[in-house]
Amino acid sequence: MHKIAIYNNKGGVGKSTLAVHLADALRRLDLKILLVDLDSQNDCSLFLGLEEKPEKTFFNLIDYRYPADLKECIIEIRDNLGLLTNTNYELIEKDLHRATRIDNFLDKVFEKTEEIYDYMIIDCSPSRSILNSAILFYVDSIIVPTQLEIASIRGFSDIYNYLEDLDIDSAKVKLVVPNMFDTRTKEAEDNLNELKSIFDEDMITSPINRRTKITEASKAGKTIFEYNSDTQLEQFYNIVERVIELG
Ligand SMILES: Nc1ncnc2c1ncn2[C@@H]1O[C@H](COP(=O)(O)OP(=O)(O)OP(=O)(O)O)[C@@H](O)[C@H]1O
Ligand SMILES: [Mg+2]
Repeated sequence: MHKIAIYNNKGGVGKSTLAVHLADALRRLDLKILLVDLDSQNDCSLFLGLEEKPEKTFFNLIDYRYPADLKECIIEIRDNLGLLTNTNYELIEKDLHRATRIDNFLDKVFEKTEEIYDYMIIDCSPSRSILNSAILFYVDSIIVPTQLEIASIRGFSDIYNYLEDLDIDSAKVKLVVPNMFDTRTKEAEDNLNELKSIFDEDMITSPINRRTKITEASKAGKTIFEYNSDTQLEQFYNIVERVIELG
């Protein structure tokens, strides 16, 4: 199982959108996917149209006295796609504060997922938090969606500083996904070039255009693949190919 965190410490850059679309695209290739929604807002669950809060969530999974069984916590939201949601975000943080080590905390929690799934995709909140630290330790790859604005591009140093503080190898950041690309503006083009000058070319995927259909689909609880088959799909497929190349 390849474990991926979708992380950026900036809010609203498209983390949840990317997590959901990657998960949906990969499951369509007959791969078994576990999407782990570890942002307090549970946006992935909303974007996939989950209507009722599940009885058991990640919070129950990490209960150190009566841990829930993994199967009880996962919702089969689509074929080949399991979804693990969260509740009690503040209590999760408290529990993690009590843990003696966080660098291997999730290894045990997710032990049973290894043999079931091909990919685990974890959607993160835009913050430095103990849970995010545990996630960044746990995963094999970090994928960073970013907007093509100069402030977002400068914000990359915060991500790398965070990894350095945790003593995590910065090479874990495998891909940068430019999102909300506005094809009409020169500024977006310039900022894309700026991004390409900072990172190795092979780390940057093709950009995802800014399209209102993406928001519409999410509001309808669908991915763009389910909502509208247009050229937007090709942009996502390029990203999916790059993810598969990661292993
Ligand atoms: N390429 C795009 N074109 C148009 N709208 C987009 C695009 N990508 C994301 N959005 C919209 O932007 C908003 C923020 O996206 P999303 O929730 O995925 O970001 P996020 O980084 O997960 O945010 P948060 O930090 O709050 O978790 C959503 O309304 C989403 O539908
Ligand atoms: Mg989000």
